[in-house]
This record gives sequence, C-alpha cells and structure tokens, in this order.
Amino acid sequence: MPATCVIGLQWGDEAKGKLVDLLTLQHDIVVRYQGGANAGHTVVAGDQTYKLSLIPSGILNPAVQSVIAGGVVINPPSCLAEIDGLVERGIQVTKNLMISDRAHVIFPWHMAEDRALDSSVSSGENIGTTQRGIGPCYRDKVGRAHAIRLGDLYREGIEQRIERIVEAKNRTLASMSDNFEPLNAATIAEEYLGYAERLKPFVADTTSYLLDAAEGDKRILFEGAQGALLDIDHGTFPYVTSSNSSGVGVSSGSGVPGRYITKVLGVIKAYSTRVGGGPFPTEQDNDTGQHLRDRGNEYGTVTRRPRRCGWFDAVAVRYTARLSGVDSLAVMLLDVLAALPEIQICTAYEIDGQRVTDFPSHVDDLRRAKPIYETLPGWQQEITGVRSIEDLPANARKYLDRISELVGRPVDVVSVGPDREQTMFSKTSNLR
Ligand code: IMP
Repeated sequence: MPATCVIGLQWGDEAKGKLVDLLTLQHDIVVRYQGGANAGHTVVAGDQTYKLSLIPSGILNPAVQSVIAGGVVINPPSCLAEIDGLVERGIQVTKNLMISDRAHVIFPWHMAEDRALDSSVSSGENIGTTQRGIGPCYRDKVGRAHAIRLGDLYREGIEQRIERIVEAKNRTLASMSDNFEPLNAATIAEEYLGYAERLKPFVADTTSYLLDAAEGDKRILFEGAQGALLDIDHGTFPYVTSSNSSGVGVSSGSGVPGRYITKVLGVIKAYSTRVGGGPFPTEQDNDTGQHLRDRGNEYGTVTRRPRRCGWFDAVAVRYTARLSGVDSLAVMLLDVLAALPEIQICTAYEIDGQRVTDFPSHVDDLRRAKPIYETLPGWQQEITGVRSIEDLPANARKYLDRISELVGRPVDVVSVGPDREQTMFSKTSNLR
C-alpha cells in the first residue's frame, strides 16, 4: 500500500504540520520517526490552533493511528504534558497513540549536558540548540553504556542502572559547569518510573506493527521533523540536529524499508529561515529580513526565538530534494512575499571566485559562499484569499515555476495561509 513521506527541505519550520494534518485524511497511520520535543508543529483546525511537539499531528483525527517510532527520543514529562493538554481540549488520546519501546529516554542529565555543552563553546560557534537534551540523548544512544530505552523502564534492575548512570553523569557535569547541583538518582528513578507507569498503555513494539502495516493494506504517512539541512549526516554539520532529518532517516527511524515508500513530498517555504547558529548564505539581516519575520510570524514554536530570515536558496533545496528522494514540492507561506516589489532567488554560489551549484559538504566553504541571485518581479497584492493555483497573480506563478525549474521537481501544493482552506493542489496532484 502507498506510504507517503513529508520532509522539510530547509532548516525546519517549513509548516509541515499543516500538510500532515491535511494528508492524514488519506492515511490510516501517521508516524513520527526522528527527533524529539525540539520540533514544533502548529496545526490550525477550524477555529482551533494546536501546537504539537512530539505527538504526531495525526492525533487530531481519532480514526488515525499515531505512532512515535523507535528513532525518536522521548522526554516523558513533556510527552505526558502534551497528551494531557490534548485530552483537556477534548482530543482522544488512547489506543490511537503508540510509542515505541525502542525509543530512547531523555533524562534531566541530558538537558543539563545540552545547556553546559552549548555554552562551553565561544559565541558564534555555538549550535544554539533547543536545550531539550536531544543531542546528549542521541549521543548516549550511540555510546550505549549510558542509554536507557523506554522499554527498559519496565524491566528489573532499572533503579540500579539509573544509579550507576547518575554517578557517572554527576562527575562529568561537575567538570562542565561551576555551579552544578548533583542529581539525585533515587528521586529521578522514582519520578521516571511514575512517568513510565502513565505511558505504559501507549508503549508497544512499533517496528513490527509498522512492518505488518506496510506489508498489509494500511496507508502510512511519515511525518519528518526539522528539515533536511539539519540532518546529522548530510546537513550543515556541526550546525545540525542529532538525527537524520532528511528523507534518508525514514527507514532507520521507523524500521520500514524504503521499498514501501511510494511518494515523498518535499516541503519548502517560499523564502528561507533558520533558528540557531550556522551559516545561512541568503540571510537578510536587514529590513527585508525583518519584513519576512514580521509578516511570516517567524518566531520559534518551541523556543519563541526570532528566526533568521532570507531569500529562497535553490542550491540548498535542489540538494536536499535529491537527497530526500523528493517527487514533488509543497511551497508554503507564499503569501508572506505579497508586498515585496522584487524577490530574489539564489541560483548558485560564488566560492573563492568559482561559480558553484553543488551544495558544499564543508561548513567553512558554505560560510564563504556568496549567493548569486536572480531577481524576479513581485506581485504586490494579497493572495490569502486565492483558492486555486491558476488564479494566483502571473508573477506569483512565474516565481513558483522558477523554483520548480531550479529545484528540478514539480510544485504539487501551494499554501497561502494557516487555514486548511488556504491550501491549493496542482491540477496533476494525486494528493487532493
Ligand atoms: P537540537 O535539535 O535542540 O539539538 O538543536 C540543534 C539545531 O537544530 C539548532 O540550531 C536548533 O535551532 C535546530 N532545530 C532543532 N529543532 C528544530 C525545529 O524543529 N525547527 C527548526 N530548527 C530546529
């Protein structure tokens, strides 16, 4: 049966949540497979706005099975707070949510390490993480000795294991920050075993569930978190997140082989944004950037940090569209460009006098990259009320056509506002 992936092709915050929410109607299962509560999804349904972080957007539809797969890192208190918040608002969260017993658990020491690590490097070099303990938890997963998976919380000997880990972590953390208060293993164990009890009804072997579903007749939707340029292996390392946030992460995070994936939708903003540190060649640290930030409400869903804003970078997106095996594009927030008399697209970089169209693999080269722009005329009229791509102003259609041409993928979806009705599908789209 068809499995669809929704992947962000920039530095995250491409409005994937809205698309996943729309596509949920055509799927039986929605899966989060990487990242953790560093992600933030805003979904507007009718007059209600939901801000989701760890729970898949599919949860808003009770007929859909929502799955948090093994590649995700779980912070139990924030996961439970999110569940409670949804339940309070009348959303059903029962058997329709499944959490992998293989998912690694974020503990207080991971958050303390995240804060200490990011402030230990000189300013300008820090990653500017969300401080949710994501990186340290993934590091322990790879290191194994100090890792705890959700399923471990139900096994004998877990208190002793927590005690051993806390002993080691207290030593490391004391050496990392001056005013560190040692963690108490017994308190943490009691607290986390309490969370585990509350999470128990949701915990399952999601890998075999998803394999059965993929081999059977279920339609699966994979919901990527962050964006492909933040991919740990293929992004702008080290200014990345700690999971495979490009399309390559779907299989490792969920356990479902790539052969079952039939459609990959790459999600982009009509411009670019980035939160945190790292090079951003098309950044507009000026009035244009501020205009995009104000008009696009470009402030982080999780941290409320102002996002850095700039022009659309076709070099970067062409790379991530190829990397993620993207079939077609969803262009979000096109309405944000409405007032601009001229719009720039970066079509190539100049690095040390050379014209470059391949995205650089080393961050130092990206830092030196000067964007080569093409200027397109703006349309200077509001488009939030437009309901079909054909009815967009001619210059807006030209802009979309040029993006499609440069990236090498057709545009399937265009969004001109946060509401479900403000989404338009191309005539040839099989997503409507
Ligand atoms: P971490 O994922 O908290 O370790 O942060 C690493 C980098 O990824 C930082 O630059 C964050 O701002 C960025 N990041 C993490 N999650 C998101 C997201 O959902 N949207 C945008 N940027 C993110």
